[in-house]
Amino acid sequence: MLISVIGCGYLGAVHAACMAKLGHEVVGIDVDDRKILQLSSGRAPFFEPGLEDLLREQLQAGRLTFTTDMSAAAEGEVHFICVGTPQKKGENAADLTYVDAALGALLPHLSADDVVVGKSTVPVGTAARLAALVSAEQPTSHLIWNPEFLREGFAVSDTLSPDRFVYGVSSGSEDDDAVRKLDEVYATALDSGTPRLVTDLPTAELVKTAANSFLATKISFINAMAEVCEAAGADVTQLADAIGMDDRIGRKFLNAGIGFGGGCLPKDIRAFMARAGELGADQALTFLREVDAINMRRRTRVVELARDLCDGSLLGKRVTVLGAAFKPESDDVRDSPALSIAAQLQLQGAVVTVTDPKALANASRRFPELHYEADTSAAVEKADALLLLTEWQEYRALDPYALVESVSSPRVLDGRNVLDAAKWRAAGWTYRGLGRP
Ligand code: UGA
Repeated sequence: MLISVIGCGYLGAVHAACMAKLGHEVVGIDVDDRKILQLSSGRAPFFEPGLEDLLREQLQAGRLTFTTDMSAAAEGEVHFICVGTPQKKGENAADLTYVDAALGALLPHLSADDVVVGKSTVPVGTAARLAALVSAEQPTSHLIWNPEFLREGFAVSDTLSPDRFVYGVSSGSEDDDAVRKLDEVYATALDSGTPRLVTDLPTAELVKTAANSFLATKISFINAMAEVCEAAGADVTQLADAIGMDDRIGRKFLNAGIGFGGGCLPKDIRAFMARAGELGADQALTFLREVDAINMRRRTRVVELARDLCDGSLLGKRVTVLGAAFKPESDDVRDSPALSIAAQLQLQGAVVTVTDPKALANASRRFPELHYEADTSAAVEKADALLLLTEWQEYRALDPYALVESVSSPRVLDGRNVLDAAKWRAAGWTYRGLGRP
């Protein structure tokens, strides 16, 4: 099929490359000419495992092109809206400027029977408003809301083999030309048995925000348990293992630590609360305020623990932060808890060195005042304390026996509870986890 993908950020760049992989002819469109130039030459503007190889393969195959010219969408029969919906400055609500601009620019290029597919995460009610604009422009064109559930770090495989498809359509019915067209786009995954749910527009929009809210709640739940474990002298990692064996609960997303960050969960729960308020349903989501508060408290707690670890004062202490990205296998530092903790430690007088395998360029743009060191051995040299804040495999695999020689004081704070505490202690380290004795 002929497909246009509007917005070539995280979601759009991956989506465009994956749609080409499925055999479609795809044009990716974005207003940022630097990004388009990079993508056209087979370079990904961000780190995502497997993406660059896929881009090159599809560019070479001739199925994928990128442009800043919206008129290229005129060729397409299916148009994916993949632009960002960041948090509004100074408010909790989502900023829909880019979604509105993308659709506004696309409308003059729509042809009869085209399908516009919304993938961006939007406040419930947005899709119905946009659907009206589409049918006003082209009465035989339709809008489908098809939320995206990809995880950074697994974006390519999540897009090619998602665990489900959700299609929101105005009619709420499967018997719909737009549904048939989107089925054609996703035929490979559908043929291999991926479930597909057809809903009305508001349900599809809510599926996405509800899913991210649930994940955020799960993480804050276990972090709340970590607080209680700390007070009671219990171990939250064992607690998570034990409750996770109940398959109604499940072990995934029960890793206590420094909390969640990134470009999605924090802003999505806030936008959800703001939207519920507008709808008069704010009481239903007041618990998300607590989820947010527990999450933000983790960052303060880690700074306190780091101070304890450094004999009560951070002033002049050389602290090495292992990890800057909001999670491993990503160079994304948007609302990264690791980086926010590093900045707070610096403000409180510590001499902070941050290292990360992929995220240093983004981190130094966000916090230019911090000191960055790409080489792990150089970063830990003469440190008074190590803080593992993003659980990259190479930090999990550090050898405490070898490392003990290079630091000034063998103290480690395991912000993700991934190190073998007994082994580190045996090697002479003072070890602190979160929610562990
Ligand atoms: C999240 C969702 O997981 C995706 O399904 C969704 O599509 C995406 O947002 C989105 O809305 O676009 P992502 O932001 O890539 O994906 O990151 P997650 O893997 O969800 O991790 C979020 C944060 O939670 C990270 O900072 C991670 O370190 C933290 N986390 C995760 C924990 O602290 N504990 C856990 O047990 C799991």
